[in-house]
Amino acid sequence: MLKLVLKMIDQLKKIKEELLISAASTKEELEDFRVKFISKKSVFSSLFEKFKELPDEKKKEIGQRLNEVKTFAQARFKELAGQVNQSHVTDESVDVSLPTVPVQAGSVHPITQTYFRIIEIFERLGFNVEDGPEIEDDWHNFTALNFPPNHPARQMQDTYFLSDDKNCVLRTHTSNVQIRLMSDEKPPFRAIMPGRVYRNEAISSRAHCFFHQVEGLSIDKAVSFKDLKQTLYHFSKEMFGKDTEIRLRPSYFPFTEPSAEIDISCFICKGDGCKICKHTGWVEIAGSGVVDPNVLENCGIDPSEYSGFAFGMGIERIAMLKYQLDDIRRFSENDLRFLRQF
Ligand code: PHE
Repeated sequence: MLKLVLKMIDQLKKIKEELLISAASTKEELEDFRVKFISKKSVFSSLFEKFKELPDEKKKEIGQRLNEVKTFAQARFKELAGQVNQSHVTDESVDVSLPTVPVQAGSVHPITQTYFRIIEIFERLGFNVEDGPEIEDDWHNFTALNFPPNHPARQMQDTYFLSDDKNCVLRTHTSNVQIRLMSDEKPPFRAIMPGRVYRNEAISSRAHCFFHQVEGLSIDKAVSFKDLKQTLYHFSKEMFGKDTEIRLRPSYFPFTEPSAEIDISCFICKGDGCKICKHTGWVEIAGSGVVDPNVLENCGIDPSEYSGFAFGMGIERIAMLKYQLDDIRRFSENDLRFLRQF
C-alpha cells in the first residue's frame, strides 16, 4: 500500500512539472493538452481510480494533492486557450507571407509647415506669437490703423462686410492684432501675428478670397528703420538661404511712415532672370514700415517716447516661392496628390 501512495505522489509531481513547461501554439496542440489533462480520459482519471484503493488515513493527503494539480491543469488550459485564440499567426487560414496593408500617414500642410518655420525664425529673434479675432470691428481693422472713413486706401482692402453699417468685417489683414496688442499692453514688445485673413477678390492662380499672413510689430524706445531692415534681412537669409539679399522699395500704407516693400534677390535664378522673378532678379515678400505716430496715439502709446516698426507678409506667397508653386488655389483644394509631396 505504501508503494502505491509513493507512486501516486511521484506521478502527481511529474504531472505538475509537465504542466509547468506545457505549451500550445496551435489548436491541435491545445486539443492534445485537453485530452491529456482535462478530458474524461485524462491522466487524472486513472489517478482517481487508484485513489479509491488507498487506505482511508492516506485519502485526505493524496486527495488534496490530486485536486491541487487538477485545478492547476484547468487554469493552465484556460491560459493556453487564450494564447492560441489570440495568435492569428498560427491560424492556417492566414497567409503570413502576404504583404501588409500599407498605412498612409498624414503630413503637415505646406502652409502650416511654412507658418511654423516663420514663427521659429522670429521666435529666435525674441518675438512672441500673438493671436486675435478673424471677425473684427471697423476700429481695429481700419480706423485705429489710420484709415480714416472714406479714405481711398480702404478700397484697396476688398473687404467682406458682415453688417449693413459696415462696422463688422472679416479682417483683411492681421494688423488688427497689432492694435489689440498696443492697446492692451505696455511697451516694449516684439510680436508676430500669424493668422487667416479675407479679401473679396476674384480667385485666380495668384489671388484667393482667404489666405494667411504673418505680421510683425516691435515697439520700444528708439526703434528705427534700420532695426526693421536688419530683422527682415536676417529673416530672408534664414528662410531662403544665406546668399539672399534684400531690397527696399518706397511704398505706402496708412499705418506706417515711411513705408517700404521688401524684395529678396531671386534665390532660384540667382539674379539671372526667371519666371518666378519675372526676369527682374527680385521677388516681393513683404510690406513694412515705421509705425505711424497716429497709430501709436490711437492705442494710447506716447509717440514722443516710443517708436516701432511693423511688417506683414503672405504665408501662401512665401510657401509658393519656397516650393516654387505657381497656383495659390492648390493650398485649399485638399488634393492629396498635391499635399503628399510635402
Ligand atoms: N497690413 C498690410 C497688408 O495686409 C501689410 C503690412 C503690415 C504693411 C505691416 C506694413 C506693415 O497689406
